[in-house]
Amino acid sequence: MNTNKFGKKGWTPNNIDNLKGKTFLITGANTGAGFEAAKILLSKDAEVVMLNRNEQKSQKATEELKEQFGTTAKISFIIMDLASLDSVRNAAKEVNETISKIDALICNAAIAQVPKLKFTTDGFESQLGVNHYGHFLLCGLLYEKIEQSKGRIVVVGSEGYKMGIKTIQFDDMNWNSNYHPMNTYCHSKLAQIMFAYELQDRIKTANKNVKIYVCHPGASATSLIKNSGGLRDRIIFGLLSMTPLVQSAEKGAYPEVMCATEEKLNQKAYYGPTGKMNWTGPVGVCKLEPYAKDKSVATKLWTVSEKATNYKWNL
Ligand SMILES: NC(=O)c1ccc[n+]([C@@H]2O[C@H](COP(=O)([O-])OP(=O)(O)OC[C@H]3O[C@@H](n4cnc5c(N)ncnc54)[C@H](OP(=O)(O)O)[C@@H]3O)[C@@H](O)[C@H]2O)c1
Repeated sequence: MNTNKFGKKGWTPNNIDNLKGKTFLITGANTGAGFEAAKILLSKDAEVVMLNRNEQKSQKATEELKEQFGTTAKISFIIMDLASLDSVRNAAKEVNETISKIDALICNAAIAQVPKLKFTTDGFESQLGVNHYGHFLLCGLLYEKIEQSKGRIVVVGSEGYKMGIKTIQFDDMNWNSNYHPMNTYCHSKLAQIMFAYELQDRIKTANKNVKIYVCHPGASATSLIKNSGGLRDRIIFGLLSMTPLVQSAEKGAYPEVMCATEEKLNQKAYYGPTGKMNWTGPVGVCKLEPYAKDKSVATKLWTVSEKATNYKWNL
């Protein structure tokens, strides 16, 4: 029996009617799943603001999108490098001053399988710094605007959350003693997922309105490994991408777009492709391992993240 509430094909953009008047912010939208998400949202008449680290790539992406959707398409970008807390603060300030509402903030940007231990501007292990700490601060700084907009935050996780050490390495957050490109990436994605569910709990306790949804894109043919991974992983993922085990970047965008737009969702769920290994297939509810919602780890991670980013949430 098919248990997917969106039918045999799962959720697709056909489920979206029209998004005129809605504003979506996407981190890392100049390429990959973020870029495809921008395309889907623009095709439904939404406004999209990309938060990207590279000016040239952002301009190229904007041109491409305007070519496809016309010069009046509501697409713009703000420069933000998640590897620098100052850059995140500056971008958030610009968003708060220039964007009147946020219907959804999609935390999509990431680096993955970085071959050697590297540090962000603020001295964090690069994958944890970019994927988790950068987004933790951004969400905090934009929270009030999203609350006023009765909007949502979408956290793009990864099935990798269950391929690493399956908890948070509090005694060595920078992986000085045991750096491993994959385990350390998985650690950062688990941190993002744990942050999201902890944020949900805090919002509920504070009687606030923002909705938080968590998803993953399965295995999608994007530039993720090409951009940040080592040679061996680039070759392996390049070969895998030529097989049906890996889906298009466009399909990889469906879960995040669904989480940003669909009304009939459950915040406690974890959404993504539900086919083989959850890498491809109809978008629906995926199983979430219990350690991703371990309350004591999540609350400790929250405290550690506030200290690291020097940002105290009002929740
Ligand atoms: N592709 C997969 O199979 C897969 C699997 C599991 C999870 N995911 C998740 O899916 C999401 C989208 O990734 P993708 O596969 O679409 O990868 P992608 O094609 O590499 O896109 C990632 C985006 O993040 C941006 N980014 C990287 N570092 C940044 C920084 N410091 N500041 C701001 N932006 C930064 C990139 O910008 P540049 O272009 O400037 O590098 C790019 O726009 C990520 O959260 C990833 O963890 C992907």
